[in-house]
Amino acid sequence: MTHFESHVLWNPAWSALRGAAERVPRDVARFHRSMPGFAASPLVPAPELADQVGVRHVFVKHEQERLGLPSFKVVGASWAVSVAVAREVGREVGREVGQAGFTTYDDLARAAAGLRGEVVLSTATDGNHGRAVAHLARLLGLGSRIFVPADMSEARVDAIRGEGAEVVVVEGSYDDAVRRAATEAARSGNELLVSDTSWPGYTEIPEAVVTGYSTIFTETVEQLAAALGEDAGIDVAVVPVGVGAFASAAVRALASGSCSVVSAEPTSADCLWQSLASGERVVVPGPHESSMAGLNCGEVSLAAWPLLQRGIRAATRVSDIEAVAAVRDLAALGVATSESGAASLAGLRRLRLDSRAGSLLRPASTVVLFDTEGVTDPASYADLTAGVQAGTSRTDAETTGVAGRA
Ligand SMILES: Cc1ncc(COP(=O)(O)O)c(C=O)c1O
Repeated sequence: MTHFESHVLWNPAWSALRGAAERVPRDVARFHRSMPGFAASPLVPAPELADQVGVRHVFVKHEQERLGLPSFKVVGASWAVSVAVAREVGREVGREVGQAGFTTYDDLARAAAGLRGEVVLSTATDGNHGRAVAHLARLLGLGSRIFVPADMSEARVDAIRGEGAEVVVVEGSYDDAVRRAATEAARSGNELLVSDTSWPGYTEIPEAVVTGYSTIFTETVEQLAAALGEDAGIDVAVVPVGVGAFASAAVRALASGSCSVVSAEPTSADCLWQSLASGERVVVPGPHESSMAGLNCGEVSLAAWPLLQRGIRAATRVSDIEAVAAVRDLAALGVATSESGAASLAGLRRLRLDSRAGSLLRPASTVVLFDTEGVTDPASYADLTAGVQAGTSRTDAETTGVAGRA
C-alpha cells in the first residue's frame, strides 16, 4: 500500500440507495425562490480539470453567494428557521416529508413578526451556519445568539457580529460550542435553537437543514441538463464534510444507484472517515486546527449518520497544503473560493491517486465538485492566490508533488 492509498477509504457498508431521490420535497425549492434576492449559484464547467483527471466532464457547483452571504449554509438555515418558526407559532406540521415550514418567505416573515421581542434564534457554528442564522434573524426582525469556538478567526466572528448577533465565545472546540448552545437553549426559555448538527432528542431542526439543502441539488441537476441535455447524469459528486449534514443531503438527492457520493475532510478532523472505518460514529477529539475552517468538526451529526453510512461510496481526507493548492488551481480557473470549498477538488485528486479509482473515474464520467464557499477572508485569499492568473491551471503532479495514477 502506498502512502496515498491510506487517504481513500472505500466505505465497507456502502449500498446503492435506489429510490432515495424521490424523498426530496418540492415545497422547499418553491420556498427558496420566494425569498427576496435568492438566486441559483453557478455550475461552472472545468474542462482543464476533466483533462487532468481523465474524465469527460468536471463541473464546479460554486456556492460563492447565497442571499448576500458567501456560502451555501443559508439555503439549509432558511428552511430550518421556517420549520422552527412554524412549530413555535403552533402551525400544523406534517405535510410532505413531515417537516413542513411555510410555503413562502412572506408567510414566514408574517409569523416571525409576531415573535419579535419574545424569541431569539440561536446556534453553535464554526462560521457559516451561525452567520446564516444571524442573517435570517436580522431579516425577520428577531435577535440572535451565536456560540463560537475560541479559535475562530476574527474575520468570521466579525461577520457574525455584523449581522447584529450576540456572539458567545466558548473555550474549546466547535463540539464544545454545540454542547453549550444546547444547554443554554434548554435553560433560557426564549432561545429557538436552529442547529445544523443533531444529537439524541434533537433531530427535527437539523433534518430540516438537510431538507433545505435539497434546493442546491435540484438546481445542479437542472443546470446539468441545460448544459449537457436531459439525459445527463452525475457519476461522481464530491462534497466537503464537517458534521456531514450537507453530505447527507447529497446522498439523499443523488445517490440513487448511478451516482457515487465521495466525501472530503481535513486529515486532522476526519470524523466521517473514522466512523465509516469503524462502522459506528466515532469522536475525533479537538483541537481541530485545519485551515478548512468550516470542516473543523469532530463528530458526525446523529441524524446524518445512517444515510452517510449507506450512501457514501468513498471517503477522502486531505491536508491543508492540498486544500491551498486546490484554492490556487480554482483561482486559475476563475473560481474564487476558500480552503473548505476547495476541499472537494483536493478530495477528487486523492481519489484519482487510488488504485481502485478507475471504477468511478471513467473516460465517459461526469464529475461535480461541490464548492461550498466563496471568499470569506479577502486578505488571506489575496495571500493564498498571489501570482495566480486565470488560465494558468496546473497539473496535479505540480500541486500535490506526486505523479498521477498509472
Ligand atoms: C464552507 C463549508 N463547507 C462545507 C461544510 C460542511 O457541512 P457539514 O457540516 O454539513 O458537513 C461547512 C460547514 O460548516 C462549511 O462551512
